[in-house]
Amino acid sequence: MAEKAIRQPNRKCPMSQTPPNPSYPRTRMRRTRQAPWSRAMVAEASLSAADFIWPIFVIEGENRIEPVASMPGVDRVTIDIAVRRVEEAATLGIPCVALFPNIDASLRTPGCEEAWNPDNLICRATRAIKAAVPEIGVMEDVALDPYNALGHDGIVVGDQIVNDLSVEALVKQALVQAEAGANIIGPSDMMDGRIGALRDALEAGGHENVMLLSYAAKYASAFYGPFRDAVGAAGKLTGDKKTYQMDPLNSDEAMREVALDLSEGADMVMVKPGMPYLDICRRVKDEFAVPTFAYQTSGEYAMLEAAAANGWLDRDTVTLEALSAFKRAGCDGMLSYYAVDVAKRLAAR
Ligand code: PBG
Repeated sequence: MAEKAIRQPNRKCPMSQTPPNPSYPRTRMRRTRQAPWSRAMVAEASLSAADFIWPIFVIEGENRIEPVASMPGVDRVTIDIAVRRVEEAATLGIPCVALFPNIDASLRTPGCEEAWNPDNLICRATRAIKAAVPEIGVMEDVALDPYNALGHDGIVVGDQIVNDLSVEALVKQALVQAEAGANIIGPSDMMDGRIGALRDALEAGGHENVMLLSYAAKYASAFYGPFRDAVGAAGKLTGDKKTYQMDPLNSDEAMREVALDLSEGADMVMVKPGMPYLDICRRVKDEFAVPTFAYQTSGEYAMLEAAAANGWLDRDTVTLEALSAFKRAGCDGMLSYYAVDVAKRLAAR
């Protein structure tokens, strides 16, 4: 079985095989916790600017910043401003940004044609960023929702989100993004077979170095609400995404999704949302030992910000704690709207 072949032996806690630690007072767990230096010395995970992919929402125009109401501190920005923000992110040591467009309603069609217009907003943003800040990685979302009159990630025919027709469209979308200079293609659409189709098309198109970071285990989640506001897809969505995104009750199914995406040519995989799915992150890392990412979604961001704004949680501490949890759960990195904010704070330490 292909799935078995790429599995690594389970890293079991040695506690179960070795004799127990001597009991108190020979063992005092607090000894290593007594000072900042000793805590730092025994820390099992660490958090740094290099762990982040920073999502940015892009709009048409010049020198314009639109705050996203449901994500305090997050804006939609025009390309010129995005370039300046990416420059700052690079200076802080953030390795990669992920671009998401909010396009005019008139360009959102049932056929989603704007997705593969080589001069669409996202392709222009990619070219501008790669020209100004070539040292940073640029990731593009592959999914049709920002271009779809019906708000879905795939092509809708009648009441169906049609898989194979959608995959053809996604391939066209990814090719214009790669042509524009995208380093990473992040398919977030959850159509079956899209990783293989994208990998073959990228190879055939001379884009063999473009990486695929697959949203492999993406759940049908209400934590995406504020993101849909940000890209203007919220009011458009008819029905829900449960016929393609995963059921939050499933975990083994996520392992099958990851195995399939890896067998089709994904270089890296993602679990999404993040914090409510840390068990999935840990399983993916343990069972596949591949680069594993989590998306700290818009809803997770909104939740923390809302509580902090009310004075119910201490924002700076709780954000670091939430992000550290991803590293502890085995993630190599996170997409997070906190990337720049946290990178600044880590640099100031
Ligand atoms: C689109 C897409 C979504 C997110 C990333 N890409 C929303 C969705 O699937 O409805 C969510 C990101 C977030 O909530 O921060 N396919």
